[in-house]
Amino acid sequence: MAPLLRLTDVRKAFGDNVVLHDVDLEVEHGQCVVLIGASGSGKSTLLRCINLLETVDDGVIELEGEEITDPRVDADAIRSRMGVVFQSYNLFPHMSVLDNITLAPVRVHGVDKATAQREARAMLERVGLGEKATARPDDLSGGQQQRVAIARALVNRPALMLLDEVTSALDPELVGEVLDLLGQLKSEGMTMILNTHEMGFARQVADTVCFLDGGRILEQGPPDQVLLDPQQARTRQFLSRIHA
Ligand SMILES: Nc1ncnc2c1ncn2[C@@H]1O[C@H](COP(=O)(O)OP(=O)(O)O)[C@@H](O)[C@H]1O
Ligand SMILES: [Mg+2]
Repeated sequence: MAPLLRLTDVRKAFGDNVVLHDVDLEVEHGQCVVLIGASGSGKSTLLRCINLLETVDDGVIELEGEEITDPRVDADAIRSRMGVVFQSYNLFPHMSVLDNITLAPVRVHGVDKATAQREARAMLERVGLGEKATARPDDLSGGQQQRVAIARALVNRPALMLLDEVTSALDPELVGEVLDLLGQLKSEGMTMILNTHEMGFARQVADTVCFLDGGRILEQGPPDQVLLDPQQARTRQFLSRIHA
């Protein structure tokens, strides 16, 4: 079976600034890939290229065997097969939690309202917020809001979740509940690519850790190998700075 996602020789530049160099990556069904690396190393750009928010300059990205970097693809249809969550959860403050989650299914995907609401409630249960359907985002903690954003990304039943520093904006005491949820999704078989500074979490949940440096995947492998016994001096330097 083809991997769920395959990147081959992906290159991306902004003007003269080459931000991704010849990136190769394979993600199998149910795998969790964690991207680590200094700020500016290209982690977010890599996720944005996978989600077709950026156009690659060279190379190929395949999702379930289909070349999604082919300019003829329907980018919206491809995007709807991925769930994306960012650092800032971007919930609409004037809408209930339930309406935030059903907005895209109803308006964009043409799901009827009753079905969308039923699925949204099921998703809220799954992220442990079944009681909060009628609450406004402002009445929730940051961790709860981020869990709503994750529920919103899950309602499309994505083949793949892309999570860009989803705990970075949270108060430290709220990070754990979001990481626990990601661990739960992983154990339920969700395929995920995420970028985080939480190395303990990466060790627990990742199948593969990729260290990015200047837009290259300098080192990738099982978490214990990359995080505890890195082969590259740049990786060691990065990790020692994180741990300091
Ligand atoms: N839209 C953009 N236009 C120009 N340069 C960008 C853009 N997005 C990212 N970059 C540049 O790409 C590089 C990688 O950024 P990014 O992917 O955000 O890194 P990371 O997520 O690892 O911090 C940086 O040099 C950044 O300035
Ligand atoms: Mg980033």
